[in-house]
Amino acid sequence: MTDKSGNLVLGDKKVDLPVKSGSIGPDVIDIGTLYKQTGAFTYDPGFTSTASCESKITYIDGDAGILLHRGYPIEQLAEQGDFLETCYLLLYGELPTAAQKKDFDHRVTMHTMVHEQMSRFFTGFRRDAHPMAVMVGTVGALSAFYHDSTDITDPHQRMVASLRMIAKMPTIAAMAYKYHIGQPFVYPQNDLDYASNFLRMCFAVPCEEYKVNPVLARAMDRIFILHADHEQNASTSTVRLAGSSGANPFACIAAGIACLWGPAHGGANEAALNMLQEIGTVDKIPEYIARAKDKNDPFRLMGFGHRVYKNYDPRAKIMQKTTHEVLAELGHKDDPLLQVAMELEKIALTDEYFIEKKLYPNIDFYSGITLKAMGFPTTMFTVLFALARTVGWIAQWAEMIEDPQQRIGRPRQLYTGEPQRDYVPLSKR
Ligand code: SDX
Repeated sequence: MTDKSGNLVLGDKKVDLPVKSGSIGPDVIDIGTLYKQTGAFTYDPGFTSTASCESKITYIDGDAGILLHRGYPIEQLAEQGDFLETCYLLLYGELPTAAQKKDFDHRVTMHTMVHEQMSRFFTGFRRDAHPMAVMVGTVGALSAFYHDSTDITDPHQRMVASLRMIAKMPTIAAMAYKYHIGQPFVYPQNDLDYASNFLRMCFAVPCEEYKVNPVLARAMDRIFILHADHEQNASTSTVRLAGSSGANPFACIAAGIACLWGPAHGGANEAALNMLQEIGTVDKIPEYIARAKDKNDPFRLMGFGHRVYKNYDPRAKIMQKTTHEVLAELGHKDDPLLQVAMELEKIALTDEYFIEKKLYPNIDFYSGITLKAMGFPTTMFTVLFALARTVGWIAQWAEMIEDPQQRIGRPRQLYTGEPQRDYVPLSKR
């Protein structure tokens, strides 16, 4: 039991645990001395009640459905700014002036090419390799380059590595897509903005001029903003833990990509679209809702539920609006998948099971439909999530490196294995 002043009574021991308050959000109980004082660990396998660090980057209020980046609501950033402005904000902590924005955009643009020999890493993969497997491998390979920006103790080199990661992810993601479909790589074009450049690298072919659709470019840019950062989610925590040992920053990002790939995390947008395709028609929805409720059925409604949001994911609302814009622009507003998605959302939001468990649509529920309409195969959805989340990973990584309290992350455990026993020679077994 912990009383208000942070005292913990454990059997006959009473320990004083400092309680720290942030600027907003829940207090934390500092248990750093708990083991020394009591000989006991805390136990929280999914980290549902554990703050792993102090951070100034992103704040989420899951009950109120609030998401702030450096204090600015995601709705305002997505409606009024662009992705590189959000990148600047996450990295530097303030919105850029016009001059700072121009300089930052230029610095990112000047890093969009990759070393030419990077293209050889792709040829080692089968064409049908999942693009996320390719991303883990090729982004990890970046750690073999750029020896001038891997001294993580040097703030300048940390910023150069951050810019390189943000700038090169679209190029590498587009290369993964082009390799997957057997088309030639398309080089970045410096006179295009970030999202337009990415769309062109994905969809341009050498045989004809590629015209960027401004509605799709704006939608792509907004999708990047919505996925930029999200507090201490699984993949960000992976990047922080990998970085806490002093590992190469590019290798840490590759670790984050690996974690994001899982269907419970960033892989949910691909899984959500596959689920909508499996449901197929509106009349099949009740059967799947019943399966989602069935304790004995492992099926879950992909794109629903969230560890933190017990209210509507604020990103999902903006994503839904973007979905309608894109489908209208492309003439797919009667897309059968959207009909199934809208009906599924309506039913789930009125069903007592989902209300009681606070299972609302999350960002992945709508992003899949939008990306499919834009021409991306489902296997590319999580790649786009990783592209956007790179800025969040690298900003959180840099914050961890600069944190004076930072030390290597090394959790303990509750051991339930065999107590010590002696070896039995083979002849006696
Ligand atoms: C992302 O952390 C982040 O911020 C992640 C993210 C980011 O930007 O980084 O927001 C991105 O990963 C979004 C989440 C995408 N994942 C999915 O859409 C997959 C489907 N959702 C679930 O797998 C689940 O909701 C999680 C993984 C998202 C959250 O899991 P929790 O917090 O561990 O919750 P839980 O699995 O313990 O579920 C609580 C209850 C359970 O029922 P009981 O055992 O209490 O009876 O709700 C049920 C679950 O069975 N439940 C669902 C459900 N999700 C949870 N039932 C049906 N369908 C679902 N989708």
